[in-house]
Amino acid sequence: MRTPLIAGNWKMYKTVPEAVALVEALLRGLPAMDGCEALVCPPFTALHAVGGLLRDTPIGLGGQDVFYEAQGAYTGAISAPMLRDAGCAYVIVGHSERRQIFGEGDALVNRKLRAALAHSLRPILCVGETKPQRDAGQAETIVVGQVRAGLAEVGDAALPEVVIAYEPVWAIGTGDTATPADAQAMHATIRHTLVELYGMQAAEQVRIQYGGSVKPDNVDELMSQPDIDGALVGGASLTAESFLRIIGFRQ
Ligand code: PGA
Repeated sequence: MRTPLIAGNWKMYKTVPEAVALVEALLRGLPAMDGCEALVCPPFTALHAVGGLLRDTPIGLGGQDVFYEAQGAYTGAISAPMLRDAGCAYVIVGHSERRQIFGEGDALVNRKLRAALAHSLRPILCVGETKPQRDAGQAETIVVGQVRAGLAEVGDAALPEVVIAYEPVWAIGTGDTATPADAQAMHATIRHTLVELYGMQAAEQVRIQYGGSVKPDNVDELMSQPDIDGALVGGASLTAESFLRIIGFRQ
């Protein structure tokens, strides 16, 4: 059985006081976390403050990105040991905004993912096609290619630490969600790719999140799909009320 993982990606939102207020509200309203895991990924500047509040609570902490070197002359970069030091257990890699706005390609994403694993951080590998790619019938090829490239040189033992987030680029921040059936179909394709790479038993353990305009009113149906094991939530993770409802999804 896979434990669903609901993660909030705060992106470039929340000053430290705002982040603290949001986490305090989340902790106040947190439902019983039976068989579900929750995670918040604040901006780097708020990690330390939020991490302090989340210690010994059921909500985990994640970074939004990581550089592949542990330390050095890399202005502006944050390393995996630094994220661990701030209390992170997870880190997002290859988010479509990193790929599209910051020009990150599959090879860089793979280096980041392997650096995370090397420092005991669980990577959330984001994959997803753009609208023109979907319209051209290339969605599966693109997504499978991103999964294979992202996992290059990742061995069998490390695979269960990896989370994959399928986020169709056209659904992110737009209010357009993939239908539960379309999302399920892509999740099944991703799982099939994992079976090819690692065998059935290992593939069955990997959590595959859906992301892209997940909201309180669509989370239940998405989470009822057999291969949807959680959600990566942007906009709706920025207020306690909506994120708490998503964490408390009903199947
Ligand atoms: P959204 O963002 O929920 O605002 O669409 C999701 C994401 O980018 O992870």
